[in-house]
Amino acid sequence: MLHEYTLFSLSLLAILFTTIVGGLAIVVLYFYIRDVTQTQHAIRRNYPVIGRFRNVFEHLGTFFRQYFYAMDREELPFNRAQRVWVYRAAKNLSLSNAFGSTHDLRQPNTPVFLNAPYPMLEDECVEARPPLIGPHCAQPYQPGSFFNISGMSYGALSHVAVTALSQGAARAKCWFNTGEGGLSPYHLKGDCDVVFQIGTAYYGVRDDQGRLDFDKLSALAERPQVKMFEIKLSQGAKPGKGGILPADKVKGEIASIRGIPEGQASVSPNRHRGINDDAALLNLIGQVKASTGKPVGIKFVLGDEQWIRGLCARIASSPVEMRPDFITLDGAEGGTGAAPQPLMDFVGLPLHVSLPMVASALRDHQLNEDIRLICSGKLIAPSAVAWALCSGADFVVSARGFMFALGCIQAMQCNKNTCPTGITTHEAKLQKGLDPTYKSVRVAHYHDNIVKSVEMIAHSCGLQNAYAFSRDNVKILSTQTHQ
Ligand SMILES: Cc1cc2nc3c(=O)[nH]c(=O)nc-3n(C[C@H](O)[C@H](O)[C@H](O)COP(=O)(O)O)c2cc1C
Repeated sequence: MLHEYTLFSLSLLAILFTTIVGGLAIVVLYFYIRDVTQTQHAIRRNYPVIGRFRNVFEHLGTFFRQYFYAMDREELPFNRAQRVWVYRAAKNLSLSNAFGSTHDLRQPNTPVFLNAPYPMLEDECVEARPPLIGPHCAQPYQPGSFFNISGMSYGALSHVAVTALSQGAARAKCWFNTGEGGLSPYHLKGDCDVVFQIGTAYYGVRDDQGRLDFDKLSALAERPQVKMFEIKLSQGAKPGKGGILPADKVKGEIASIRGIPEGQASVSPNRHRGINDDAALLNLIGQVKASTGKPVGIKFVLGDEQWIRGLCARIASSPVEMRPDFITLDGAEGGTGAAPQPLMDFVGLPLHVSLPMVASALRDHQLNEDIRLICSGKLIAPSAVAWALCSGADFVVSARGFMFALGCIQAMQCNKNTCPTGITTHEAKLQKGLDPTYKSVRVAHYHDNIVKSVEMIAHSCGLQNAYAFSRDNVKILSTQTHQ
């Protein structure tokens, strides 16, 4: 009986084995025939079946490098050391390290802060308020912090991410820029200060023909949360290219807030129509100021130093009603929801080059008191923020720093609808991992820890607070410095 049972089991196993092997052989044969008969992929034609693993390994390589092989200071756009600092700051965990720095100070262009022989004692430090923006406006804006959330549209971001940022900004008392996708109910959820961005497609404030509708703008300015208006000329990651929102992200509510058809890619023009010189730009600024009564500024990435010098000269000779109240300078290293690689990689000046140029141009024309300088471009760590303040910025804004605070893992999928952390996707099943209430606390912690750490650098330099930073407090180590 036992013998018969064993025989039966063995036969069953043999049948199962033959079926699996036979099945596999048929599948391999199927792909073999497909690969050798197709003409599109040389590798698959020359190496049928195994050639297919190349794509799989290429995809998996991203994860292996990020988790196992890349050194702490190696990856781009942000390395592990930078990301981990933000994650820990957002969780309000200890921010001290042991043994010694892994940052190589011998790299040329490293900024170092010049510590004072007798730093400030904690009880000697004086808290200061950030500078007022738009002192000559009917309704100037008194920001709560020098570190704020940069423009990211509802559309590029999910509604849960926008809600978390809005609630986090309210907790941290910093502002949140809408990006060019218009004002959504989610921006208002936390009741934070909002900067409304006017992009080239005028999303949220456009008329039937896609022109800027000043009545809509005035109505928006009535909202107490909307503190300032930013006219976007360009952005670091894609100078000369308008906003791009892929078709599968243009869903019902997003399309209706923007005032565009649903399901079609939303691509804004690469320039404001009718604005092709400085005179026209100042005219537009004047019109927006007149319709809103609130501070109005411009955002751009710098290409030519002569242009900013010429613009400042013109501003200095223009009536105050036409002058911008702030300039937001984005570095070429800035982030994006979607942009073409050549523009991302090679067009526009990086912030370490452009910030000193713009700060000097404003100062040389005595405009730096009336026109506040805001800047962005990978300023996600305290040292980078402190460097920007030393170099002439009044405020720093960050987009990706706050995305990391929300839990971004740098999966680089913002231009698809597949963000695994729910930050830049409109798939409900991926969004469910992002709890806005919980993440808003992380946003606020990240903000607060940046401010605290920047203040710490200021105290080390012998200053009472971060508003006292100047170019004298930082030295850029060049190759000569080491000789
Ligand atoms: C997902 C995403 C969406 C963005 N959307 C906008 C936008 O609508 N308007 C804009 O001016 N900049 C936009 N930006 C650029 C940021 O506002 C910022 O200028 C740039 O990323 C530099 O800051 P960061 O290095 O801290 O990210 C976006 C960036 C990201 C990552």
